Amino acid sequence: MADFARILHDWYQVHKRVLPWRETKDPYRIWVSEIILQQTRVDQGLDYYLRFIARFPDVWTLAETDESEVLKYWEGLGYYSRARNLLQAARQVCALGKFPDSYSEIRKLRGVGDYTAAAIASFAFGLPYAAVDGNVYRVLSRYYGVELPIDTGAGKKYFAALATETLDRKHPANYNQAIMDFGALQCVPKNPDCSACPFCASCVAFRDGLVAQLPIKIGKQTLRSRFFTFIYIEYSDLVALWRRGTGDIWEGLYQPLQFEWEEALPDEIQLYKRLSDLFVGQGNITFLPLKICERQRLSHQLLHVSFYRLSLSFPPDESALPQGIIWVEKNKLAQYAFPKMLAEMTEKL
Ligand code: ADE
Repeated sequence: MADFARILHDWYQVHKRVLPWRETKDPYRIWVSEIILQQTRVDQGLDYYLRFIARFPDVWTLAETDESEVLKYWEGLGYYSRARNLLQAARQVCALGKFPDSYSEIRKLRGVGDYTAAAIASFAFGLPYAAVDGNVYRVLSRYYGVELPIDTGAGKKYFAALATETLDRKHPANYNQAIMDFGALQCVPKNPDCSACPFCASCVAFRDGLVAQLPIKIGKQTLRSRFFTFIYIEYSDLVALWRRGTGDIWEGLYQPLQFEWEEALPDEIQLYKRLSDLFVGQGNITFLPLKICERQRLSHQLLHVSFYRLSLSFPPDESALPQGIIWVEKNKLAQYAFPKMLAEMTEKL
């Protein structure tokens, strides 16, 4: 074994985290864990994983479930397209009759990229593929002192080749887990404790004082600001919801009435005008702010959101409202999958 893999292996023997997806060779469970862990840290992902597997213990159970229920189990994780892809890929697997067991076949599953395919191939089938995630970029860039940016085509290619070369081909599962844990626990992004690192004698970044600079990233995408107002329309013990369509964030999730504004959130007078147009001549409306501005950063968007509740004393004329309205009893709201910020607000109704 090369020095790097040997030292890593020894470190892992001592520091290994015991995690349920490491106690199995079931490719389905490993796959689910990897998709969840692309979204969240291990401590939070663990709960999601356990709940998901308790409800969908195998790929057949998942494949026959409605998308909206799968989204419910994903609620709060974000990137809902990952959950939709997971479901579609489960159906692909069922059509194949068994979980694919080669890298190239695994890579064809919907939503499975190079990293996930290598993780499944190595963890479930012991195949010699290096799984290169953010942790691995960090560890390799520092250890070898690589100053190529990790978010360019050339950088990705270089790191993929380097990772393949460094891989312990006899023990790919153990090696991949080890380097991920090493990145997550020891070679952390900010202020790693290099004095306690087993590589301090051979790490180029440590020798050259480059630890804080590596890995290098160039292209920070520009952030697009968007302005949303959500209005919970209540009538008796019912709340109006709509299901979000395709081609925008939060596809397939539920929301109350939404307005999107061009430049800024409206003040209450502007909003009241807009709402009175919807209910003109129909009866009394009472209108209360729930929260005036909450911000949420998505990968390329910064959302500015205000929330209101509007109580009606009359059944509304639905033709003035957006199409697709459904009325849900308040005590049944928890059955619907909402974007995280709306789930938190909906709970308070
Ligand atoms: N992050 C991504 N995949 C992981 C795994 N298998 N174990 C721990 N952390 C991870």
